[in-house]
Amino acid sequence: MDDALRQTVASLPVRPRVAVVLGSGLGAFADELAGRVEIPYSKIRNFPASTAAGHAGRMVLGKLGEVDLAVLSGRAHLYEGYTPQQAVFGVRLLAALGVRSFVFTNAAGGINLDYQRGALVLISDHINLQGSNPLVGSNDESLGPRFPDMSEAYSKRYREIALEAARELGIELKEGVYAAMLGPSYETPAEIRFLRTIGADLVGMSTVPEVIVANHMGARVLAISCVTNMAAGILPQKIRHEEVLETGRMVRGTLIRLLQNIVPRLAGEE
Ligand code: HPA
Repeated sequence: MDDALRQTVASLPVRPRVAVVLGSGLGAFADELAGRVEIPYSKIRNFPASTAAGHAGRMVLGKLGEVDLAVLSGRAHLYEGYTPQQAVFGVRLLAALGVRSFVFTNAAGGINLDYQRGALVLISDHINLQGSNPLVGSNDESLGPRFPDMSEAYSKRYREIALEAARELGIELKEGVYAAMLGPSYETPAEIRFLRTIGADLVGMSTVPEVIVANHMGARVLAISCVTNMAAGILPQKIRHEEVLETGRMVRGTLIRLLQNIVPRLAGEE
């Protein structure tokens, strides 16, 4: 971690153990934190700027109830031209600050025909089709092993907690497998049929590199997708980024309620 950042962090009254990484159109969650301190990514050395529309590009530290929390609002995607290592910089940084539990949210296309636009889906596993892996290159043994196990990349215990929270709140939360594509073009209908055949329920362009490094460092992961659109070829309409953002806005109240309920429970698991 660089010294300037270490000093910034040392001066802050929060020591996050839990972090939430927010996807497209979902930035409002960070506004709910008490006593929050916002640090634009541009003020953090080496932090990749997030260029996608709907991504604020700030780290927010604050309290959710009793829990010290870090929120990354906006992420760097491979399709923006960032290297996989750059895309995971925020997660590496948070882990260096002491975060042991990560909650990722993202926007995804729904492949499973049981889903509808606006559905919230707990990611149970992923298929990495991005053609890259952030752990490629020399391995830093102080962070984690050369060949990390990924057989429970999405903590079973955390998933139980999330499902329980959703049940209590009366929020429908499905479960599914997320396929990560490079993007930025949306998939073709043939690609979506292929993804369905290989066992994917959702498709998106993010999250998987971050989940890989979080697992590499021994942190536990929960991830929730918002189905912002049905995937290509399912409905007789084109996929528009505006629709993705609009669905994010539609669902964010529900997702925020869910996160507010889940996060303290994860903190209690420590
Ligand atoms: N495909 C890939 N990524 C996405 C989609 C999609 O349909 N919707 C939101 N992110």
